[in-house]
Amino acid sequence: MIISVQGLRKAHGARQVLRGIDAFVEKGETIAIVGPSGAGKSTLLRCLNGLNSFDGGSVEVAGISLAPHTSPDAPQLLPLRARVGMVFQGLNLFPHLSVLENLCLAPRQVRREPAVQVEKRARSLLERVGLGDRWQSRPAQLSGGQQQRVAIARALCMQPEVLLLDEPTSSLDPEMRGEVLSVLRDLAGSCTMLVVTHEMTFARGVASRVWVLDEGKLVEDGPPAQVCDNPRSERARSFFGAA
Ligand SMILES: Nc1ncnc2c1ncn2[C@@H]1O[C@H](COP(=O)(O)OP(=O)(O)O)[C@@H](O)[C@H]1O
Ligand SMILES: [Mg+2]
Repeated sequence: MIISVQGLRKAHGARQVLRGIDAFVEKGETIAIVGPSGAGKSTLLRCLNGLNSFDGGSVEVAGISLAPHTSPDAPQLLPLRARVGMVFQGLNLFPHLSVLENLCLAPRQVRREPAVQVEKRARSLLERVGLGDRWQSRPAQLSGGQQQRVAIARALCMQPEVLLLDEPTSSLDPEMRGEVLSVLRDLAGSCTMLVVTHEMTFARGVASRVWVLDEGKLVEDGPPAQVCDNPRSERARSFFGAA
């Protein structure tokens, strides 16, 4: 088990955002996290790499345990961040660096890896996301879909054990969504991925399991065919628009 979450609770001020989440992920799984806006999907991802502290329960990711009320700046989070990659919506590449430099920065500075080794890996990742010839470009010279593919390659360049993606396609035009989703489809299985998404075709076709989050609770957790076509909960049935 690469991720284990038990009784996870989190409030923002007086608002209970996560109300006791129990979930696990096996290595190599692709989890699609769906649910209405405000359900707590982003908060859940942020708790998994310590960007948000939480109030109760336990979180274990890639062999590292997090306790409630751990500050996002706590030193014990550094090894976690090295093992957990994150791609946010509209994520900020460093605008003054080339694509290649964006990929190489963290492995060089955080892990002190030799330049030659990192660059080799970075170039092969750029090939993998279909941008092998754009290594010298600045982010602003790329389309939104290309930037998002660079952001994915950058996260992968740290060789994470887990990759968290928060609505990686939602700010993109439809045609660019396809190119980003196809990169994720190719990655599925090689890296454990949790993807918050509204792309149900992707969830059905690629995910090993679908989680439905609603009002801070995990109301469905199962294979896509079961969760999408035959959900147990009323909330999920209405979310998927089924009768
Ligand atoms: N930093 C924050 N401060 C206060 N409230 C927040 C903060 N982040 C999220 N929330 C609230 O927590 C709830 C869940 O947010 P979020 O996890 O972003 O949901 P989702 O990603 O499913 O749309 C929402 O009601 C949101 O307004
Ligand atoms: Mg969100």
